[in-house]
Amino acid sequence: MTKAMTISELELQIKALRQEFAADDGLPAGELSVKYLGKNGLFNQLAAVIGQLESTDRPEAGRLLNQLKAELEAAISKRLQEEEQQTEWVDLTIPGIRPPTGHLHPITQAISEITRIFERIGFTRVRYPEVDWDWYVFEALNMPQNHPARDEWETFFVDTPPHPERGRMVLTTHTSNGQVREMERLGQPPIRMINIGRTYRRQQDATHTQVFHQFEGLVVDKGINIQHLKGTIDYFAREFYGPEAKSRIRPFHFKFTEPSFEVDFSCHICHGTGYLEGQVDAETGGTHKCRFCKSGWHEVGGAGMVHPNVLKAGGIDPDEYTGFAFGWGVERTYSLKEGLNLDDIRLLYGTDLRFLEQF
Ligand code: DAH
Repeated sequence: MTKAMTISELELQIKALRQEFAADDGLPAGELSVKYLGKNGLFNQLAAVIGQLESTDRPEAGRLLNQLKAELEAAISKRLQEEEQQTEWVDLTIPGIRPPTGHLHPITQAISEITRIFERIGFTRVRYPEVDWDWYVFEALNMPQNHPARDEWETFFVDTPPHPERGRMVLTTHTSNGQVREMERLGQPPIRMINIGRTYRRQQDATHTQVFHQFEGLVVDKGINIQHLKGTIDYFAREFYGPEAKSRIRPFHFKFTEPSFEVDFSCHICHGTGYLEGQVDAETGGTHKCRFCKSGWHEVGGAGMVHPNVLKAGGIDPDEYTGFAFGWGVERTYSLKEGLNLDDIRLLYGTDLRFLEQF
């Protein structure tokens, strides 16, 4: 049983509908027409209550509803007329809006440039897992379990069951894991690989990020010696930094190479001298030190002659073959390029387009 309705209740509902219509001022005529006068529109919904009124009230209710309907119709057709009078002009000769175009990220650009430089002298770009077994990352590289040399690589371990022979799973701390993997892939020399990938270490400051990139070179063949290594590094320096650039190697220690070196490139600002030309300090009469490098050189990474144990781990006979290897940071190598002078490599991984759009 529906409750009976009075005329004053109907009047209240009519009032509410008028208010809603006034609030819908911004809607186009078509939408208003559907919402208020359509088959299931608000007017018809309201008119349906007529059945709930006392029969004596119905004529009055009919009058009120007719008045409301006439009002709505008039307002909507007025709106329609207004819309028809508004002529919109489209100027087809206005030039279009140029859509924003992006470009490759500077590190991606650096990776392709490095790849091309090495491909020109016969290297093949490869990629190996960035999450790899301990065996490839450390053990096969002549770093047995618990060897203190491992401490240098602040390693992230993956919480997963270890492999029965290859040990725990780690996020690769360097691209050197590609060395024994490449020996396994090819089976036999000659090997000329350039492995570029992401590397991970527990570190974070202006010159270190937890995720960064390295490129790893490996050459194994008969009669490979240090001159081949130095020649390759010099070639890269000239191609990447320009004809003036020089490289130098300093004795160092890595478990996977013997002998081992650290590799430096000459500073493009002071040309390897450590001092800025023509800038003499007025007070002391001394020459200004180059603030970019302090010594004339920038260290970029390591290199050396592949350790016989590493060749053996990759199934290659160290009595027959020798090889050299190097591993450098992409961000570091790139940030030393002329004119870049990036003192905070974290900028490269920010999302500030004002910075990235410069490249
Ligand atoms: N893997 C070393 C590092 O990340 C760098 C390195 C040194 C790579 C000597 C090499 C090498 O291939 O021969 O610090």
